[in-house]
Amino acid sequence: MKILIINGPNLNMLGIREPDIYGKNTYNDLCDLISLYCINAGIEVDIYQSNHEGELVDKIQSAYNCFDGIVINPAAYTHTSVALLDAVKAVGVPTVEVHISDVSTREDFRQISYIRKGCVKTISGKGFDGYIDAIKFLKEQYGDK
Ligand code: DQA
Repeated sequence: MKILIINGPNLNMLGIREPDIYGKNTYNDLCDLISLYCINAGIEVDIYQSNHEGELVDKIQSAYNCFDGIVINPAAYTHTSVALLDAVKAVGVPTVEVHISDVSTREDFRQISYIRKGCVKTISGKGFDGYIDAIKFLKEQYGDK
């Protein structure tokens, strides 16, 4: 099984940005956690981060006929981007939306998620473990490849 992990803007700043909200662990720590889990679970994984909306669209499109699942934390683009929603719908690859913080308890402007309509599941507020839960879910539901 092949899973694509996509992280949006400012997630490369994990460990530095607002540690009270996102924790002290770094983006590299997140990548290591995901890589190690996937090696042990026999999952092929590609991990990507960009601060640019169009690059995120390109990466989602690259999953067409190539990946069995996508885990995406679109970060701030969650709350603004129809383009990311359209991309996920276009490729038809099962996609899980992940947020490190619990967005449901934060500002009003974070209560809208455009991409959610194109996702099979949303995991929010579980820290870095949310990514692992998303991978486990995709493997359980779609992982016979
Ligand atoms: C986030 C929540 C978003 O509202 C925010 O813009 C982020 C990170 C999260 O992982 O909790 O950058 O997606």
